[in-house]
Amino acid sequence: MNKASNLMQEIVSLCKRRGFIFPSSEIYNGFRSCYDFGSLGVELKNNIKQAWWKNIVQNRQDVVGLDASILMSPKVWEASGHLTAGFADELVECKSCHKRFKLDELKENKCPECKGELTKPRKFNLMMKTFVGPVEDKAATTYLRAETCQGIYINFLNVLNSMRMKIPFGIAQIGKSFRNEITPGNFIFRLREFEQMEMQWFCHPPASKTTRNRRETKRETDAKNWEPDDWFNYWKEERMKWYLDFGIKKENLRAVEIPEKDRAHYAKRQIDIEYKFPFGWKEVEGIHDRGDWDLSNHSKYSKKDLSYFNEADKEKYIPHIIETSVGVDRSLFAFLCEAYEEVKGGRTKTTKAVKESEMVLRLDKRLTPIKASIFPLVKNKPEIVKKAKQIFDLLKPNFMCQYDEAGSIGRRYRRADEIGVPFAITIDFDTLKQDDVTIRDRDTMKQERIKIENLVETLKQKLNSE
Ligand code: GAP
Repeated sequence: MNKASNLMQEIVSLCKRRGFIFPSSEIYNGFRSCYDFGSLGVELKNNIKQAWWKNIVQNRQDVVGLDASILMSPKVWEASGHLTAGFADELVECKSCHKRFKLDELKENKCPECKGELTKPRKFNLMMKTFVGPVEDKAATTYLRAETCQGIYINFLNVLNSMRMKIPFGIAQIGKSFRNEITPGNFIFRLREFEQMEMQWFCHPPASKTTRNRRETKRETDAKNWEPDDWFNYWKEERMKWYLDFGIKKENLRAVEIPEKDRAHYAKRQIDIEYKFPFGWKEVEGIHDRGDWDLSNHSKYSKKDLSYFNEADKEKYIPHIIETSVGVDRSLFAFLCEAYEEVKGGRTKTTKAVKESEMVLRLDKRLTPIKASIFPLVKNKPEIVKKAKQIFDLLKPNFMCQYDEAGSIGRRYRRADEIGVPFAITIDFDTLKQDDVTIRDRDTMKQERIKIENLVETLKQKLNSE
């Protein structure tokens, strides 16, 4: 087995063993392409969503949130182009083993499994059909959304008017999307049910040459005069910074300009932010210049005027859209791969002559599911156990914590390192005399004694120090 698939196996196994991610419907032999997030997985997922929301919405004045429904009028998907060839993959089937493949993922014109002959390619639409109401006929047909952003476009006027927004501004949303992918796979990389974090930035369309010259002079000082391409570059940089800030190494992240023939049907320009997964460079996020594709089409299909009127300039136009779109599951997978580290020969003190390999999940402290583990040094001393439980009660309203008294301290450190807990707090005999505890840092392995009265504040500071 090669190193990359070994690493993948280790990550998949850790996820199952420690409650991050389980295969869906496992007791019924699984349901390919769907996964369930366990107790630690849901914490990690929530922290990623919170980190994105804080960066895109909370810390800015010009982006507001939305939570639109998954089911929408089927007209939405006619207008968006998703029901036509624009959102279809080319599918081929093996005439011998009947497995199906995406044409653009094949390296040769043979079945990759049994080398059998393949059928001619045919278009396969990725929208998931469903029926609303008791009668399953054409009139009741709609679709599970394939991207969250369509809910943003059809609410453009509602948000604009209710929040008194002025262009340029953005609307952000996090939610589930569904695609009938032909070849889901690589663990949670390509799923049929997944979650997206999308932000749609509404800006002035490209100016005519004369206005552009006029605007050009003010461009450096006033972002209102930026062209869509300036915003595109701005958002690409912002998004790249976000991954680096949350621990992705520079050498594992890149932005790739997508040529016209490979772009999504709505994109005038597209950059994929790619992460170096164990199975190669793959997209985690798309930055798209969608032009006026969506708002123009929704205006046409709904017969509602979705243009924007600028009072100051007495100018009316359909806004231009720059989109940032990242999968929650896919970015979570990238953060897990980046954080996974095997330390050959071990890192904690052990009495064994030959130390085993140990693993540590070096997740950013803001993302890690559990912030502190609380250990009584021994479990057969009631005073120590009582104190440790009091400390757990003191910390848990502030941070996600866990209490662990099973096994040696070395083992407990190892269990905590494996799931990325940044701080392990030990309550020992000195605690009873001095009212202090030992805090051990996951990354530096340094230990320091902290007074219990200062514990909450110290942890808050340490957790926000990145
Ligand atoms: N609204 C634009 C849009 O949906 P996309 O490039 O099709 O663009 C954006 O998807 C992101 O959503 C991808 O970069 C990926 O992170 C995530 N994504 C798309 N399809 C996915 C799938 N089948 N499974 C998991 N994540 C997916």
